[in-house]
Amino acid sequence: MRAYATYPSLAGRRVFITGGATGIGAAMVEAFSEQGAVVGHLDLAEDAAGALADQLQAAGYARPWFRRVDVTDAAALKAAISDFAAEAGGFEVLVNNVANDTRHDPLETSQDSWRRCMAVNLDCAFFASQAAVHLMRAGGHGGAIVNFSSINAVLGPDGMPGYVTAKAGLLGMTKALARQYGPDGIRVNTILPGWVVTQRQLDLWLTPKAEAEWMEQVCLKERIEPRDAANLAMFLAADDSRMITNQHFIIDGGRV
Ligand SMILES: NC(=O)c1ccc[n+]([C@@H]2O[C@H](COP(=O)([O-])OP(=O)(O)OC[C@H]3O[C@@H](n4cnc5c(N)ncnc54)[C@H](O)[C@@H]3O)[C@@H](O)[C@H]2O)c1
Repeated sequence: MRAYATYPSLAGRRVFITGGATGIGAAMVEAFSEQGAVVGHLDLAEDAAGALADQLQAAGYARPWFRRVDVTDAAALKAAISDFAAEAGGFEVLVNNVANDTRHDPLETSQDSWRRCMAVNLDCAFFASQAAVHLMRAGGHGGAIVNFSSINAVLGPDGMPGYVTAKAGLLGMTKALARQYGPDGIRVNTILPGWVVTQRQLDLWLTPKAEAEWMEQVCLKERIEPRDAANLAMFLAADDSRMITNQHFIIDGGRV
């Protein structure tokens, strides 16, 4: 039986998660809600967000704030974060989780599809952070930004050059923002997950053969669950990590 931490500092904290309806994002909506945080999120997947809210409500937690937003629309993304903060009465934590890891051939990639890939995997993290920094500065108590990169940013596998490039870009963005907004008490850190077993990964890529190969490469021969990544995100959002910023954290069972 596993037993996970409770973070008193997360109770009442205003937390916004991009791409929160499914996968790791949904695990974070759930985990932060369990801590008593005031959670907001956005996604394209409205039905999944509704099911998640029903499930949380049935378990006795508050329904999370949700809006259907395409994060490639920077104005709509920023408006959602600001509207959430206005309704919640403040803003302390942003988790830049949204991504799209669709595979593509480098030699067949058009300028438009490259730009779309950057928009969903990199640009939105910048513009969401822009909105968050304004709100955190206005609050006067700092805040925490947690970005989701990937071990693919450092391993550089075949078949996903846009995703790999964007995820590596997030590492640089983390450094730039952590340095610039540290004096405001805003911490910026990045999580690099290995292969986390979400429904999307099971449906699209995590075949028994691929999983057997993965298990040969890692130290810990167990699946990484969405909750494992959520646990690290909560630590990086909580006061327990108050002097940690400008860092990258790998959670991959020892693959890298
Ligand atoms: N699952 C893994 O194995 C893995 C490994 C390494 C890194 N990561 C990273 O962790 C984070 C979460 O991973 P995941 O597997 O849960 O992601 P995912 O791709 O399954 O889900 C992301 C969420 O974003 C939503 N979304 C996609 N495009 C959107 C858009 N344009 N606008 C709004 N919402 C949109 C999806 O509907 C989904 O709910 C991502 O940043 C991912 O790159 C995941």
